[in-house]
This record gives sequence, C-alpha cells and structure tokens, in this order.
Amino acid sequence: MKFPEGFVWGAASSGPQSEGNFNKIHQNVFDYWYATEPGEFFQGVGPDLTSNFYNDYPNDLQLMKKAGIKALRLSIQWSRLIQDFETGTVNQAGADFYRRLFATMKATGIEPYVTLFHFDMPADLQHQYGGWQSKHVVSLFEKYAKEAFKLYGNQINHWFTFNEPKVILDGQYLYQFHYPKIVDGPSAVQVAFNINLASAKAIAAFHQINTNVGATIGMILNLTPAYAASEKPCDKEAARIAELWTNDLFLQPAIRGTFPSSLVDLLKSDHVLWNATGAELDLIANNQIDELGVNYYHPFRVEAPDVSPKSLQDWMPDIYFKEYQMPGRIENVDRGWEIYPKALYDIAISIKERFGNIPWFVSENGMGVSREDRFMDDYGMVHDDYRIDFMHDHLVELFRGIKAGSNCHGYFAWTAIDNWSWKNAYRNRYGLIRNNIHTQEKTLKKSAYWFNQLSHQNILPPTNFKLP
Ligand code: FCB
Repeated sequence: MKFPEGFVWGAASSGPQSEGNFNKIHQNVFDYWYATEPGEFFQGVGPDLTSNFYNDYPNDLQLMKKAGIKALRLSIQWSRLIQDFETGTVNQAGADFYRRLFATMKATGIEPYVTLFHFDMPADLQHQYGGWQSKHVVSLFEKYAKEAFKLYGNQINHWFTFNEPKVILDGQYLYQFHYPKIVDGPSAVQVAFNINLASAKAIAAFHQINTNVGATIGMILNLTPAYAASEKPCDKEAARIAELWTNDLFLQPAIRGTFPSSLVDLLKSDHVLWNATGAELDLIANNQIDELGVNYYHPFRVEAPDVSPKSLQDWMPDIYFKEYQMPGRIENVDRGWEIYPKALYDIAISIKERFGNIPWFVSENGMGVSREDRFMDDYGMVHDDYRIDFMHDHLVELFRGIKAGSNCHGYFAWTAIDNWSWKNAYRNRYGLIRNNIHTQEKTLKKSAYWFNQLSHQNILPPTNFKLP
C-alpha cells in the first residue's frame, strides 16, 4: 500500500499536555482545577510538569525525527501568549518561547501545525464571563488569534482554530469531565454556536493579517460516526439526530458556512436554539476552513432512548439518543473505547460525498494503554505491537478511502511522546516514545521504529514488522 506522493506523516500533541507550567503567568482551567481539586486527577498528577516540553523541546524534536515524524501538531496556550486578555497585549516571555520553538522545528525539519485552542480556557475568563458561554470571550479570542497570526505568520503554514469543540461541550457543559463541570444542555447549545462564531472570526482575521502565501487555516474535529444499533426506525432516528449533534453541528458551518437545518428546527421547537444575530450568521457564512483535521478514535453507536424525548426532563442533547455498546465489540479496555477501523473509511467517504471532498488529514489517531512497562524488555524498550496493529488497521481503511477518491493528505499519530491526558493524567500512554515521568527520560518504543519505516518508505510495513 503506497500512499500518495507528499503524504504527511506526523504526530499531534498540545501545549497544556506537554509544555509544563514553566514561566506561565496565567492559569488555564486545568491549572486552576488541579490547584483546587488535585484529587480529581489520576494519582494526583497535574499539569505542572507534564512532559517538560518547555525545557526539553530540542531533545524531544530530535527523538521525534528518529521516529520519522515530519510534522508536529501542537497548540499555543492562550494563557501563556497573552498578558492582558482584554487588550490582547502579548506576554514577551511566552511569545519568545513559541518563536524559538518554531525556529527549532524548522531547523530540525519538523513542520509545525498550530492549533489556537486545545481545551485550555484561561481560568480568569471562565470565572469572570463563563468562558465560551460569553460572546465577549469570543471577541477576546479573536484578539488573541490576531496576535498569534502577527507574531508567527511568517513561520507557520498550517493554522487551526479549535481542537475538538464537541469535547469542550461534553466536558465542560454536559458530562462533567472538564472544569467547571456544568450540566446544562441549553448552555451547551450556545457554546456550540459561540465556538463556531469564534472560529469564523479567527478565520476572518487570518485573511486580513496573513501575508504568508500558501498558508492555510482549518479546524480539528473529532468525528465519531453515529451507527444505529439496529435497523429499527427508532434506532435509525436516534442515529440521525446523534450524527447531526455530534458531527454536523461543527462540520457544516466550518465547511459550508451554514448550520444543519433539521437540527436548527429541532432546537427551535425545543426552545433551546442559540442566540445569534444576522451579522454573526453572515460572518460564519463567509469564513470557511481551507483544510479539515479529523481526530478519530472510536465510533458512536446509538439506540433509541429509554424514555421518549417528550417526557418531562431537563433538555440535554441525549434525550434523543442513547449510547449503545455493541456485544462482542473489540475494545481498548484501558480506555473503554470500541476499536472500529472501518469508521475511518466511512469518514473518508462522507467527507468526499457530503462535504465537497475538502482537503483533510487524520489529525489524531492512536491507542492509549495503561501500565506499559508490562511490555518492556530488558533493555527498557516497550514492545507495543498492539499500537502498531491499531495504526496499521486504521491505515488500511484510510488507504481504501483514498483509493475511492477521498482527498486525505496526511496521518498524525496521537502522540509523539507520552503526555498528560487531562483527568487521566499519565494513566494511559499513547506515545511512540516512552516518557519515564519520574526521570523525564525519553526512549523510542517499537512503534517509533515502525512509524519511521512507514514515513520514509510511504508504504505500510508488513504486519510481521521486525525491529531493524
Ligand atoms: C483527544 C484529545 C487529545 C488527547 C486524546 C487522547 O480527545 O484531542 O488532547 O487527550 O483525546
């Protein structure tokens, strides 16, 4: 299986999960949450050190190079780059750090793919205004984005506004796995709109400011195709609404500039539709992404809810669908996620057929496994054949999608070096490179050698891959 010429083999990470808090002047919501409720995090491990990327990036980048990583997706932390959120004044130490980092990446031959927002709302903006519930925060985000474009426009060719907006809704406003753990369906609806608006505003600013010819701006969405548990009409109806809510709510505004009309109708008749002005809708209509990043880990199987949505209950999106665990599924038991590579083919075809075959790439895919020292040999190398198999099987499906004409131009593994996974901290390891978090010693796993061969040959290595 030979991938197309110029196919990008990369890895993804984020600022809050890798940098550590060194020299930061503001807390983001995770810093704040850890400072106030450390017991919420696996083994009490917080975001203060993470993988020490702030100090160790020259060494880390060299290791990534050995793993064949030619592009690295990372994120700027709003709470590091900006001194005064209201005016957008830059914090010089933060600005210097990212400039040095991007320059070192260039010198190392690793292309930066930069995300502006990866779950890391500044804590002050959450507390003062309610974070993404507030349109004032949307305008502050635009100021931050403008500064980032001005500072790094000449260094960056691939920008992204948001990582996984759906997870922001789920974590902060619906299912309580990110601070401030609010449960409020109608607020989640407004947040969904505000994030789409913030993304469009950043895209508009990019078009005004950017002078780097050929630079593009996109968005990273976690797509979880919704599959009905059965052919029964009620299950199919649940899947239809789940697809609209989880995927199309972000895909359609980003790519076509409109919201799915049947979802809008449903929210309207439930009296929970967002507040939006005509000018805001025009802005969304006029500012689309150039490329789409797709994070894919697991499918979303759904069945009809236990009780009718007409029952008296507080409005939540999942009054319309219930998650369904398919008996006999293959599961990553450490994460509780079904492993279903074929969804990547379905995503490829859906982008081709429903979304104008926009240029896209897999911006995250990978497998988190706990207690990986189980698989370590006497020399300290982790033999992570399960990770190789996981990526292999997903790439087989992706390849089929590309052969069928889908416009996919890259695959980024999550992640390069084991990093801090929010509440789960360092429980599940995702890296091609191991991080001993007690010593911060970093060593290649077997999958790094596999990925290196893949990236250099642009051909999927055989399943019985042997270490060189
Ligand atoms: C995704 C996030 C990423 C990482 C992986 C495991 O949802 O984008 O930050 O935590 O999950």
